[in-house]
Amino acid sequence: MSRSDTGYAMPAPDLGRAVASFADARWGWPVEPGLVTAVTDVSTGCVELLRACCRPGEPVVISPPVYPPFFDWVAEVGARLIEAPLRQDGSGMWRLDLDAVRDAFRARPAAYILCSPHNPVGRVHDRGELEAVVQLAHEYGVRVISNEIHAPLVLEGAAFTPLLAVPGAAEIAVSLVSVSKGWNLAGLKCAAIVAGSPAMQAVVGRLPPDGRWRIGHFGVLATVAALTAGQPWLDALLATLSMRRRQLGDLIAAQLPDVRWQPPQATYLAWLDCRRIGDGEQPRNVFLDRGRVALEPGPGFGTPGSGFVRLNFGTSEAVLAEAIDRMASALS
Ligand SMILES: Cc1ncc(COP(=O)(O)O)c(C=O)c1O
Repeated sequence: MSRSDTGYAMPAPDLGRAVASFADARWGWPVEPGLVTAVTDVSTGCVELLRACCRPGEPVVISPPVYPPFFDWVAEVGARLIEAPLRQDGSGMWRLDLDAVRDAFRARPAAYILCSPHNPVGRVHDRGELEAVVQLAHEYGVRVISNEIHAPLVLEGAAFTPLLAVPGAAEIAVSLVSVSKGWNLAGLKCAAIVAGSPAMQAVVGRLPPDGRWRIGHFGVLATVAALTAGQPWLDALLATLSMRRRQLGDLIAAQLPDVRWQPPQATYLAWLDCRRIGDGEQPRNVFLDRGRVALEPGPGFGTPGSGFVRLNFGTSEAVLAEAIDRMASALS
C-alpha cells in the first residue's frame, strides 16, 4: 500500500517460478515456469479451458459425486454432460471407475474434468489409476483438465501424483493449481493453469487475452508468498487436519453408529454415508432441523450423493466435538 502498488496484477515471471519451486519441492514434479498461466480462480480457469476445448453440444465427462459447480461449468459452456461415477471398492474406498470412464469416452467427449484429489470423497487417485486415465484419453482423443486445487491438502498416509507427472499426460492434459484451499485465500482471486507441452500450451493460448486483467493483484502476491514461504504453515495445518480426522473417526464410531465413512486421504472434508438414516436430502435436514448442524447436502454432488452429507472438519477440536454431539442427539 505504501508503494501505491494497488493496480493490476503482474503475475509473470514470479508466479510461474513459485509454482515450479513448490511443485518440485512437494511432489518432485518438474514444471516449466513459462508454461504457467495465471487465471482469476480455478472455476474461471476450468470454464475457459472448456470453451477452448469444446464446442456447444459436445460431450464433457465428470465423475460424481463431485464438487457441485462441475455440473454448472459444463452447462455454462453449453456442453453435454456425461457422467462416469466413482465406485466404492470392497473396503469402501472411493475410486475412479475406469470401466465407466471408458464407456463415457466412447462418446468421444471433448474433455474430462478430473478432480484430483477428489472433492467430496477426499480420494487421492493413485498413479496406476491416473496412468489408465491418460491411456484412455489417448485412445479416445480426450483432453483432460485436472483440477488439483486440493493437492496441497494431502494428509498423512497418502502421496499425491500430479497428473502431468504421468508419462504421456503432458500431450493431452493441463492442470489447475491454486493456494485458495490450502491457505484459504480464495477471496483474493488467483489460480494457475499448468501445461507441459506446446500442444496443450496452444490450447491455453486460446483463452481470452483480457483474462490477464481479471486476476487479483493481492491474489498473485499471496500465492507467491504461500508457495515460497508458506510450507511450514501448511505442514502445521496438515498435522492439525490429521488429528481432526482421527478425532472425527473416534467420534463417529462412538456416537454415530448409523453413519458410515471412509477417512479422506486429502482435504478437510468428510463424506458421510447416512443412507441408514434416509435418502435424498433427508439426513441433512434431520441434522439441521433437530441438531442445528448445517452440513452440505449430498444430492448437490450428483445422484450418487443421495443419502450423504459433507462435513467440514477444518475447525477446532471443541467445535467438531459439539457438532458430532448435536448430530447424535438429532438421531436419538
Ligand atoms: C474441487 C474444487 N474446485 C474449485 C473450487 C473453487 O475454486 P476457486 O475459488 O479457485 O474457483 C473448489 C472450492 O472448494 C473446489 O473444491
